[in-house]
Amino acid sequence: MEQYEAIFYRRSVRHFSKDPLPERLLDNLKKYMMQVMPLYRSEPFRILLVDRKEQPGAVSGPGRVEAPYYLAFFGQDTMLGRCSAGYLAEQLTLYLASREVGTCYQGLARLKEQPPETQPELKLLFLVAFGISEETFREPEEASRLSLEKLAACKDKLSEESRTILRAARMAPSSMNSQPWRFVVYRNRIHLFARKERLGLKTLERMRDVNMGIVLYHMMLAAEELWLTADLQVSELISERSWKNNEYILTLYWKNL
Ligand SMILES: Cc1cc2nc3c(=O)[nH]c(=O)nc-3n(C[C@H](O)[C@H](O)[C@H](O)COP(=O)(O)O)c2cc1C
Repeated sequence: MEQYEAIFYRRSVRHFSKDPLPERLLDNLKKYMMQVMPLYRSEPFRILLVDRKEQPGAVSGPGRVEAPYYLAFFGQDTMLGRCSAGYLAEQLTLYLASREVGTCYQGLARLKEQPPETQPELKLLFLVAFGISEETFREPEEASRLSLEKLAACKDKLSEESRTILRAARMAPSSMNSQPWRFVVYRNRIHLFARKERLGLKTLERMRDVNMGIVLYHMMLAAEELWLTADLQVSELISERSWKNNEYILTLYWKNL
């Protein structure tokens, strides 16, 4: 299965087998971890693979799923840092799904110790549990997601490109399935907005930023699937304005090749 297809079929796994993954798969994962594309080149990050066999008590925290392996994502604890980490993590979860490996984001899980050689400004932002599971896939229509009508306001007639990108975006996983993304859609661009966090809880706000990075990766992957030349930019005009319920994040622009 390709990464793009995995967008529609992967689901969060909460029961993992204790069986180890093949060495070759882990080696390839480690190589892929070094090739992931950052959202912002200037954002420092670190990704660490935790093998529970070697570090049995390394992961703790609420909502934690027991798994044989975890990926730990470190970055700056800022909006950009968290968004960037979500963008990186979704590349890896889709990579793992494309190899039939189950995954589950772990927003509140923690590592017992900050690993040595981690720059002090990098904080653990979240983890992703992974391993062999029988629950790795489901049919796309079984996913509980808001309809595109609820998520997107279309300013032009919806182009085939926009429709494909929105379908991929809609399937993105999010903390507590909150789906905080909203889209304003034109023929060759989509403005991405995030719902404002109403409860004012820092943890929810942090996870929302991670969610926005995840959805951005789905949008970019769909654009790539369509062979579009796509770019993410901040529209100055839009970022200067403010909205009651939403916050502007970025705009995806594209051209046909
Ligand atoms: C940033 C983030 C944090 C999450 N944290 C947890 C968690 O702590 N525990 C858990 O069981 N699931 C967690 N999830 C998984 C979501 O609950 C799940 O993605 C969502 O309900 C949609 O379900 P699906 O991934 O099966 O489509 C998290 C997902 C994201 C994106």
